[in-house]
Amino acid sequence: MNPASLLPPVRNPADCSATRMLIFCAVMLLTSLDLGCSSSSSALNKAWAEWKMKHSKVYDNQTETAYRRAVWEKNLFLVMRHNQEASAGKHSFTMGLNHLADMTAEEVNEKLNGLKLEELTHLMNGTLKEVNISSIPQTVDWRKNGLVSPVQNQGMCGSCWAFSSLGALEGQMKKQTGALVPLSPQNLVDCSIKDGNHGCRGGFISKAFGYIIRNGGVDSERFYPYEHQNGKCRYSDAGKAAYCSKFHILPHGDEKALQAAVASVGPVSVAVNAMLRSFHLYRGGLYNVPNCNPRFTNHAVLVVGYGTDRGQDFWLVKNSWGTAWGEQGFIRIARNKKNLCGIANFAIYPTL
Ligand SMILES: *[C@@H]1O[C@H](CO)[C@@H](O)[C@H](O)[C@H]1NC(C)=O
Ligand SMILES: *[C@@H]1O[C@H](CO)[C@@H](O)[C@H](O)[C@H]1NC(C)=O
Ligand SMILES: *[C@@H]1O[C@H](CO)[C@@H](O)[C@H](O)[C@H]1NC(C)=O
Repeated sequence: MNPASLLPPVRNPADCSATRMLIFCAVMLLTSLDLGCSSSSSALNKAWAEWKMKHSKVYDNQTETAYRRAVWEKNLFLVMRHNQEASAGKHSFTMGLNHLADMTAEEVNEKLNGLKLEELTHLMNGTLKEVNISSIPQTVDWRKNGLVSPVQNQGMCGSCWAFSSLGALEGQMKKQTGALVPLSPQNLVDCSIKDGNHGCRGGFISKAFGYIIRNGGVDSERFYPYEHQNGKCRYSDAGKAAYCSKFHILPHGDEKALQAAVASVGPVSVAVNAMLRSFHLYRGGLYNVPNCNPRFTNHAVLVVGYGTDRGQDFWLVKNSWGTAWGEQGFIRIARNKKNLCGIANFAIYPTL
C-alpha cells in the first residue's frame, strides 16, 4: 500500500507536510502496523498549527480553541478514512481539511446554508420553451465563454441565495452587453428584506430576482462591496450594473429540462442539499453520495455547465465558499442519478 495514494492530489507542493506525515502515521495505525509513530501527537499539533495558519484562524479563548481542535480532529479522521476508501475505489471524490474543518455539520448548515424553501405557489409560473432534447450538446462549460465571474466567499453569512441569483444574472448580462461585471450580493442582503429575504439569515432565489425587478436594477460588486454581514441599504443608481424583468422556473425535478436550459440560456440558479459533511469538506472529483436526499435542499448554488467524466454524467456547479473549497470553488455533482441532492428541484433563471 502506498500511503501517498491515500491523499487527495496536492495542488501546492508546499502544502501541509505535517498533515501528510500525520496521515501516513494514522493510516499505519488504522491498518494496525506499528511503524513507530509515537510522535503522532506532536505531528497532530504541527498539522493543527499549519492548518490554523493557512486559514488564518484565531480563537477568542482557550475553551474555544480546545473545542475547535476537537472538532477539527474528528474531521481529520473522517477525511482520512474517506480518502482511504476513495483510493480503494469506494468513492468518486476526495475530501479535504478546508476552512470549514473546525466547524460541525450543524454549524455549517446553520450559518452558511441560508436558502429558504421556495414556496410552491410562487413557483407556479414555471416556463421553459419546448426543447429538442436530441440537439442539446453533450458538454457545456460557460466559464469558457466568459459568463462566470470569479468565485467569492460568502463568509459566515447565509447569503448563498444572493450569490446564486446574481451568478445567473451576470451570465445574462454578459450575453447582452459583452461585459462580465460581478454584481453585489451585499446590495441584495441589505435591500431585499421587503421582498421577503432575511439578509445573512437566509433568503430565496426568486425573491432576489423579485427585488431586482422592483428596484429597477442591482449595483456592481465594485460599487457596493461585500461585507459578510447585514447592513443598511445603500443602493444607488450610480452603481447600477444589471437589471432583469422576469424570472423563469424550470419544471420541478426535471434534469433534462435543466440541461436544456443550461445549454440554451446560460448559468442557472439552483438549490441543493448541502447538509452532509462530505459536501462541506468536498475537495475534488465527482460528488456522488447516495444519501444526498433530494428533498432536503438548503443551499443555493449556480449550475455553470455539465458533462461526462469516464462515463459518469455530472453537473458543473459554482459555489460561494471561496476557492479553497472543492475544485477551485466548484463542485461536480453526479447528473442523471435521480435528481441527486435535489439539484433540479428549484432551478431558476432571469431574463432581461
Ligand atoms: C470563549 O469564546 C467563546 C466563543 O467565542 C464564547 O462563546 C465563550 O463565552 C468564551 N468563554 C470565556 C470563558 O470567555
Ligand atoms: C404568473 O404570472 C402572471 C403574469 O406575469 C402573474 O399575473 C401571476 O400573478 C403569476 N402567478 C404566480 C403564482 O406567481
Ligand atoms: C431535433 O434535432 C435533430 C438534430 O438537430 C434533428 O435531426 C431533429 O429532426 C429534431 N427534431 C425535432 C422534433 O425537431
